[in-house]
Amino acid sequence: MCGIVGCVAEEPVAEILLEGLKRVEYRGYDSVGMATISGGKFGVRKGVGRVAEVEERLQMSRLPGDAGMAHSRWATHGGVTDQNAHPHASCRESVAVIHNGIIENYVPLKKALSSRGHRFRSETDTEVIAHIIEDEYKRLRDPVKATLAGTKKLKGQYAMAVMFQDRPDVMIGARKDAPLIVGVGDGKMFLASDVLAFIGHTDRTIFLDNLEVVELTKDRVRIFGPQGKEVRRKPTQVAWELSDVSKSDFAHYTLKEINEQPKTVLTASVQDPAKLEAFAKAIRKAKSLYITASGTSYHAGLLMKFRLNKEAKIRVDTVVAGELKEHAGFLGKGSVVVAFSQSGETADVMEAVKEAKKHGARVFSIVNAAGSTLARESDGVLLLNCGPEVGVAATKSFTAQVVVANLVVDAVLGKRRSNGFKELSEAVAETLKCDEQIRDLVYEYSSRPDFYFVARGYESPVAMEGALKLKELSYIHAEGMPASELKHGTLALIEKGTPVVVLNPSGSLHADTLSNAEELRARGADVIGVSDVKDEVYRHFVRVPKVQPKFAPIVESIPLQLLAYHMSVAKRNDPDYPRNLAKSVTVK
Ligand code: M6R
Repeated sequence: MCGIVGCVAEEPVAEILLEGLKRVEYRGYDSVGMATISGGKFGVRKGVGRVAEVEERLQMSRLPGDAGMAHSRWATHGGVTDQNAHPHASCRESVAVIHNGIIENYVPLKKALSSRGHRFRSETDTEVIAHIIEDEYKRLRDPVKATLAGTKKLKGQYAMAVMFQDRPDVMIGARKDAPLIVGVGDGKMFLASDVLAFIGHTDRTIFLDNLEVVELTKDRVRIFGPQGKEVRRKPTQVAWELSDVSKSDFAHYTLKEINEQPKTVLTASVQDPAKLEAFAKAIRKAKSLYITASGTSYHAGLLMKFRLNKEAKIRVDTVVAGELKEHAGFLGKGSVVVAFSQSGETADVMEAVKEAKKHGARVFSIVNAAGSTLARESDGVLLLNCGPEVGVAATKSFTAQVVVANLVVDAVLGKRRSNGFKELSEAVAETLKCDEQIRDLVYEYSSRPDFYFVARGYESPVAMEGALKLKELSYIHAEGMPASELKHGTLALIEKGTPVVVLNPSGSLHADTLSNAEELRARGADVIGVSDVKDEVYRHFVRVPKVQPKFAPIVESIPLQLLAYHMSVAKRNDPDYPRNLAKSVTVK
């Protein structure tokens, strides 16, 4: 959600900011804006639309000045209008601010400020920040002190960049429960909600802690704790490179990321044995154990639960992160919560982690973004090592999560080594060859209003994942469920020609799943089998290579990802930026 990019440099920054804005587009947004300072005045250009559209209309990149900030807004408080887009300036235009998060007490703050003569131009919660800091700056005459004093009055979540009209050399950043990262360059310093915003300029980053405030000038970064005491912190190097965030020859990031999976299942499998063992030990010793995550990551969590239950005989529940609070009765000292998150910034996941810690539980996480809030707040972390995922739909991060979850379960089972990753990588490459066949399916079924995905046992979460992927990319209604559940209600929806994808690898559940496929066919469904064994019940058959059962969800999810992607393209949607969705969901 909302993206922040700020830069103070020894050169004009507008082009740099525009490039940064494009790199945070994937977070999801409805409007964008930019402010720079030049000649002692703010220049602000902002409006509703995609970065390219607003740039064409308003020429943000022509704004003069060596310091500036840009923002992509995902509306929460106040409609999607030009006026509500960030940046927001105070009434005297002495302070401007961009913000990611929600100011929960903005209504009383706005009332109090209005009664003191402040005039508001937008309906946003953010605008109060500019007015509050303006007052504090008048009193304290120091950007850091004014921001610290101002933020103390705010309730809720924020990551913000603040600029002062009479201090064009300085930019201030502040954060609470929302990500804000500093990029340390040569002659230019950055503030951003994501390292991707500045990765082309520097790979040296500083992750700010909650309630810290940072002051940037073109050649210096100073960090202050909540009481104003300076904190020393060295930059760390991020492993991601600029080439990781290009589309290469692919039409979309999503397609590129799907095709990267032969490589990313391998990179995900390289984990520090000591960290794996610490993770496994915590699981083995846990008095109570939960896995928590949202969306696709939740599906990876369900797969982990399955193996822990069935093979390790460990009792564990996988709970959607936004619901973990409701299970707090089972959390206490000695409990362990395993959190899955690609971004490491999902608000629901962070709330769940906060709740778990409040009850004395330890948190172990499986995360893609090193340095993310989740990674930093966990007692143990395993990284996905699959590179940045730009497409809003999780693809390579899902299969990387399944790889890492399998490594953890194997470690819990006392297996010193997990192997077969080379074969898995080859199987994924082989499966990707079904692309042409999937396009044919899309051609045949793109006008159908509903799709169903069913499977049994360990494959059931993959059915749910297939449905989620199709919904978010193609906007077709889809449901994924255990095949055994069909006869308890959903079968009533099956009509002649309803497409139903049946995931059915060879193994002990194969015959029962085939019976469900028969039931579907008998009611007119077009059954699309995804399996290593063909059967005449399938009207269409997508062959996937036979792999170790624990890896089957990885190969099975490839045709499902391609189906969702090609369906999206066929329907003229943008597969990288599906409507109403954000890559990193940083509000509750
Ligand atoms: O960054 P996270 O893994 O915590 O994100 C969780 C969900 O928001 C995410 O998986 C979402 O469901 C994807 N868009 C699905 O493709």
